[in-house]
Amino acid sequence: MKRRSVTRRRALAGLACAGAMATPAMARAAGPALLGYPSSGPAAGRGLGLVPPLSCTPGTRPLTAGPFYTPQTPRRTSLREPGTAGEPLVFEGLVLASDCRPLAGAVIDIWHSDERGRYDNAGFRYRGHQYTDAAGAFMFETIRPVRYSGRTPHIHVKVQGEATRPLTTQVYFPDMAEANARDRIFRDDLVMRLERSGEGWRGRFDFVLEP
Ligand SMILES: [Fe+2]
Repeated sequence: MKRRSVTRRRALAGLACAGAMATPAMARAAGPALLGYPSSGPAAGRGLGLVPPLSCTPGTRPLTAGPFYTPQTPRRTSLREPGTAGEPLVFEGLVLASDCRPLAGAVIDIWHSDERGRYDNAGFRYRGHQYTDAAGAFMFETIRPVRYSGRTPHIHVKVQGEATRPLTTQVYFPDMAEANARDRIFRDDLVMRLERSGEGWRGRFDFVLEP
């Protein structure tokens, strides 16, 4: 029964992709698949007003995907689950080329543990993908993941632009210095900028992709 449910969820995720294909932007061309998702063109403007950095080299450091990646996630902005005890987090940023040019229509797929340090390996809790807007911006509403089995809290990311190689990496939190220092995979150039925002947090990280 559980397997059937998972299959249905995957099928629904596929339908979400099919929905993306039907947008006018998609009608312009059947571009290359990005991370296994159809190329759809830019998402609707997110209005985040994020200013690109002055320098974008070198490209963002790749890191292992680890054992918990699931492909073909739902296309969505909010990963929050009803009734979660997790601390709300808005995770936003830009996807840029190495000359700081925004990459519109890039796919960004994220996954992370829940408020108890567990991954959903049967379904899609705290998993989702979206396309950057014309400014290269992405934004997920989610929660702060917590540490698990020796890992400092992190968000896994796969991101690919229409003319770039895929990048797989992980993004970290600046206020977890002690746990970060004990984590063998952690790299300090992958720490997001983080600030308090209302009842939760707002974190920003810009990804720079190699051609
Ligand atoms: Fe992980």
